[in-house]
Amino acid sequence: MTKPLLVLSKPHLNGGGSILAKMLLDYFEDDYTVKDAFEWCSGPGWIGFGLLDREIAEHVTFGDINPEAIECVGESIDLNGVENMCEAYVSPNFDNIPEYETFDLVVGNPPSYCNLNPEHPAYHLNSGDLRPNDPGWVAHIDFYHHLPDYLEDGGRCVILEAEPHKKEVVIPPFDIPYDQRPEKPIDIFRQLIKDAGLKYEGCSRVGSLLGVLDIYAIECRKD
Ligand SMILES: C[S@@+](CC[C@H](N)C(=O)[O-])C[C@H]1O[C@@H](n2cnc3c(N)ncnc32)[C@H](O)[C@@H]1O
Repeated sequence: MTKPLLVLSKPHLNGGGSILAKMLLDYFEDDYTVKDAFEWCSGPGWIGFGLLDREIAEHVTFGDINPEAIECVGESIDLNGVENMCEAYVSPNFDNIPEYETFDLVVGNPPSYCNLNPEHPAYHLNSGDLRPNDPGWVAHIDFYHHLPDYLEDGGRCVILEAEPHKKEVVIPPFDIPYDQRPEKPIDIFRQLIKDAGLKYEGCSRVGSLLGVLDIYAIECRKD
């Protein structure tokens, strides 16, 4: 791209991507390029537009369950004049992504919590918010189940997760758990990847959010 792409957003649509996208983009090898990428849980699309900006991907499809987020992506597409390089769908997981679409790369920064603690002071603020919440990992289960249908052979999937090795997530300054996971999320995601017939490639720490949450990139591949 000759000029950096502008990503439009609203505070209530930002799920950390304005900071986290760079961590995911830096994860890729310098010479890594793909033709078609999909951003799951895109919100305003920082990761997807970043893939275009860095010329990692030639074309990006964005998907999010929230129509307002996809409206925002559409406005960014128009603003930057990249209509021929993008598609955007209101879609719970892959539900509305056309079946003929396949991707060389799938990325995402999905909700990272499965069981918010009702005793936590932020619970009432966050319990109805789609950005942090995936109760019972229902969205993750559906996503990994359908992922093989949309990944090209040899295609990669790299998903950001907050503290996937911890059953309890405590976020200072509060000292009571924010999320209480029945199992370590990494164990659940590895099993979902295995059940989908995909190859688990690893879980690498890519950075920290505001110095309090460790962020990891979980990668799997379709052989
Ligand atoms: C943590 S926020 C991340 C948003 C954006 N990617 C970012 O990094 O700022 C999670 C996003 O997932 C979306 N989301 C939640 N459940 C979803 C589902 N089942 N399918 C698609 N998107 C979903 C939310 O609307 C929200 O935009």
